[in-house]
Amino acid sequence: MVNHDRKILVTCALPYANGPIHLGHMLEHIQADIWVRFQRLRGHSVHFICADDAHGTPIMLKANELGISPETMIADIKRSHEHDFSGFDINFDNYHSTHSKENHELSSKIYLALRGKGYIKTRTISQLFDPEKEMFLPDRFVKGGCPSCKADNQYGDNCDHCGATYSPIDLINATSTITGTTPIIKDSEHYFFDLPQFEDMLKTWTRSGSLQLEMANKINEWFISGLKQWDISRDAPYFGFEIPNAPGKFFYVWLDAPIGYMGSFKNLCDKTDHLDFDEYWKKNSTTELYHFIGKDIINFHSLFWPAVLEGANYRKPTAVYVHGYVTVNGLKMSKSKGTFIKASTYLEHLDPECLRYYYAAKLTSKIDDLDLNLDDFTQRVNTDVVNKLVNIASRSAGFINKKYQGELSDRLVAPDLYQSFIDKGKSIATLFDQREFARAIREIMALADNANKYIDEKAPWVMAKQQDKKVEVQEICSMGINLFRVLITYLKAVMPKLAARSEAFLNETLNWDSIKTPLLAHQINQFKVLFSRIDPKHVEAMIEASKDNIVADKSIKTVKVGDKFNSLTCELDKEPLCSEIDFDTFAKVDLRVVLITKAESVPKANKLLKLTLDLGGGTRTVFAGIKSAYHPEDLEGKLTVMVANIAPRKMKFGLSQGMILATGSEGSEIHILHPDSGAKPGQRIM
Ligand code: MSP
Ligand code: ZN
Repeated sequence: MVNHDRKILVTCALPYANGPIHLGHMLEHIQADIWVRFQRLRGHSVHFICADDAHGTPIMLKANELGISPETMIADIKRSHEHDFSGFDINFDNYHSTHSKENHELSSKIYLALRGKGYIKTRTISQLFDPEKEMFLPDRFVKGGCPSCKADNQYGDNCDHCGATYSPIDLINATSTITGTTPIIKDSEHYFFDLPQFEDMLKTWTRSGSLQLEMANKINEWFISGLKQWDISRDAPYFGFEIPNAPGKFFYVWLDAPIGYMGSFKNLCDKTDHLDFDEYWKKNSTTELYHFIGKDIINFHSLFWPAVLEGANYRKPTAVYVHGYVTVNGLKMSKSKGTFIKASTYLEHLDPECLRYYYAAKLTSKIDDLDLNLDDFTQRVNTDVVNKLVNIASRSAGFINKKYQGELSDRLVAPDLYQSFIDKGKSIATLFDQREFARAIREIMALADNANKYIDEKAPWVMAKQQDKKVEVQEICSMGINLFRVLITYLKAVMPKLAARSEAFLNETLNWDSIKTPLLAHQINQFKVLFSRIDPKHVEAMIEASKDNIVADKSIKTVKVGDKFNSLTCELDKEPLCSEIDFDTFAKVDLRVVLITKAESVPKANKLLKLTLDLGGGTRTVFAGIKSAYHPEDLEGKLTVMVANIAPRKMKFGLSQGMILATGSEGSEIHILHPDSGAKPGQRIM
């Protein structure tokens, strides 16, 4: 029995307003949108909301960098986000911003309620402060040596090299990544949310079916290590909401971000007259609340957020649905490989429904990562959607349109086959409801195979040549069209545009209940191409368009041999100059003085020497193609310059953890760079 009285509120995580929507984000939005459309098809009342997450230091700094106000920047980005989501047919009822009046009011109200109940504590803490920018530095904006393994150039909270976590204050030679200056340690009073007071409630809630099992287990690790008070304030300058009665103190972005779900819903309620905010958010509400999120933000949604809601006397989420991460061709999305694909770039080259179908065909209710393998994507969509599904309609429609003036037969010739399609509806619906989309799609495609088998066996194109088979041909083709109709209805939430084109062709609005009765003696419309197969060239073009533009800009003049350039003689004519970069881009290259403590020949490599480099705290192994120019022993004890933050490269002989700078290349003279005497290992070159 379908319960038609369910009132459901669904959210997607709020994308940060400092970057474009990419195909990773799209997984979440497509997953939630399919689920929402499915629930609506089943007759439930669903409100689907989202917003941009507009606050925080990265957004403030990005706007600074662009020389515009954060307000202007977040307004521009919001427009582009909304444009991308609508391009993929994400059917939000409201798309708002956390930088809104509703969110401001709700955040202040919730904070004051928490404060009134003794859940807010204050305490003075010491933090790194950039004296030049006059601001406290979030962990991501400090780099230095790892206090544990001494590896250089690590972020303020944890080490990429050895995995240690620590306080930024313990970094060796910390520098601010904003100004490059050495931060000082400064005290400031902070506001904390007293999470430990909610331990019992959270232990019950996380085991109440609100979380997937893997998540409940993950959360249990936090219980074991002990819940800590949560720092919810940040000092000015900060782009966010000022805390009531605390001048110069702002809510940390992660406090007001989930409240943004409420803010967006409030904004919707104010625009519509039949929606009651309190009905959905009051304690013991009988409505349902679901958050779709990625696995990186579990703690915010499964610890802090339910505790904040409980503390301020609101309802808690019915469930938090977590998905894994998108990889492309088996790897993390990468700008240089062209696999960091923006939603807008995808839309310029491909049909959004292809991605909707492919993600659905691979999504489960688990939090495993999902690989977008582009060859498999092309093949899967073409095989399933074009060769199997649309084929059922196209091979049946021709006869009906041409020979029977678009009229379906008045009798269902294979009622058992039809009934078997209808009977599957129940399990397919359960799978959609449980977010087991891949299994639902598998069931639907198995039915498509059955439909094609039926048509193949009957071969109406053979019968059509026989005068006495006129009725049979109409009946078989009508059967094919009726089977197609059931399948498209099952897929309507996944591919709404294909469903709409099919509805136009079938001359009927499809819904889950009406397919129980077959379409008989019904007039259909002229069949038009319902779906175009993916041309692999378009996929390639999308990848090309996604590659970071590192290609030389031919319009820039090259320097000729002998040209004077900063009083040095340049030999640049053989290679085009790369396009101009701004100072900030250059500053990202971390050049360091290093001491070559060991140099060894790599036996099986013609060109490589294996170098052990001392960075003045931590060592690196680098493979350099300089064997033709140096005896290893001549290098030991020499200083040179390395690029310390280039991503490590796996080579046949081991991992190369950086590059040293040298002139020349294969076949030409090689000279490694030596800093002037007096330079010390570890010093940064600017
Ligand atoms: N602003 C926060 C969310 C606040 S919710 C109150 C945030 N924003 S985000 O833009 O970084 O991510 C938004 C959502 O996209 C998150 O659920 C995140 O897990 C998801 N994804 C971002 N990159 C992703 C992939 N590569 N793959 C799948 N989902 C990914 O976090
Ligand atoms: Zn380390």
